[in-house]
Amino acid sequence: AELLDRIPVIYLHMAECTGCSESLLRTDSPTLESLIFDYLSLEYHETIMAASGWQAEENLERAMDVHQGKYILMVEGAVPAGRDSFYLTIGPHAHTGESIVKKAADGAAAVIAVGACATYGGIQAARPNPTNARPVSKIISKAVINIAGCPPSESNIVGTILHYILFGTLPALDSFGRPRWAYGMRVHDMCERRGRFDAGEFVQRFGDDGARRGYCLYRVGCKGPYTFNNCAIERFNQHTSWPVQAGHGCIGCSEPNFWDTMAPYEEP
Ligand code: SF4
Ligand code: SF4
Ligand code: F3S
Repeated sequence: AELLDRIPVIYLHMAECTGCSESLLRTDSPTLESLIFDYLSLEYHETIMAASGWQAEENLERAMDVHQGKYILMVEGAVPAGRDSFYLTIGPHAHTGESIVKKAADGAAAVIAVGACATYGGIQAARPNPTNARPVSKIISKAVINIAGCPPSESNIVGTILHYILFGTLPALDSFGRPRWAYGMRVHDMCERRGRFDAGEFVQRFGDDGARRGYCLYRVGCKGPYTFNNCAIERFNQHTSWPVQAGHGCIGCSEPNFWDTMAPYEEP
C-alpha cells in the first residue's frame, strides 16, 4: 500500500498493565512491522514510540489535528472518571486520562477498546473500584468495539483492525460490543478437552492423575462453558498455547466484570 493509504492510529494507555500491548506485539500474520509499515500509521503509542515528554504530547495533538475524522482510536486500560479522574494524569500538562480519551474520541473515525480494562473496567473496576475506573464505552457517547480479554489474543486485536482496513466497516458485534467473528462461540465449544468433558473424565485436584492425562478442568473451576472467546483456536504468543492447554481452567477473562462475577477461579 502507498504511504498515504495507511490508516492513522492513535493508541492510548489508561489505567492498565500493558499486557494487551504485549499481546499485540506478538502478531505474526501480519507481523507488527508489516502492520505498522504497510497498513497503519501508528501516530502515538506510549510503549513503542520514540518520542517522550513534550515531544510525545505534541505528536498526539498534531495527530488528532491533522488526521481529524480519519484515525482509528485504540484505548488500552480503564478510565478513572468524574471527580476521581485525577487518579490518572498523563504528560507534562498532567491532563487527565478521561479528558484525553474524550478529546481523542471526538475526532476518531472508529473507537476500539482493547482488553478487559478498556472494555468493561477490568481489575481496576472490580469491587470496591477505588479509582472509579470506567470502561471506554461509559466515558464517550460514540459506539465502541470491545476486543475483550485479559489480554485479548493478538489475532483478535489485529483481525479487528484488518476488518476495518479491508472492508471500511466495523465488524458485526454481539450485545457486549464484541466482534462476533472472534467472540461468537464459547471457549467450551472449541476446547481440545471437550471430549474429556463429554466422557465424564475430570481433573479432581490440580496435580492428580487426571491432570497429567489432560482431563477436563471443569471440576477445578474452568469457566469455559460460560465464556465467549476463540482462545482454543487462535491461542496466544504466536499461536503457542492458551490457559487450558497450559493446565489451568479458563477464568472467564473475556466476560464483563469477570473479576467480580467469575471468582473463585479454582475449585474446590
Ligand atoms: Fe493488562 Fe489485562 Fe488490562 Fe490488558 S486487560 S491491560 S492484560 S490487566
Ligand atoms: Fe470445557 Fe473447560 Fe473442560 Fe475445556 S477444560 S472442556 S472449556 S470445562
Ligand atoms: Fe481468557 Fe478463558 Fe481464554 S481466561 S484467555 S477467555 S481461556
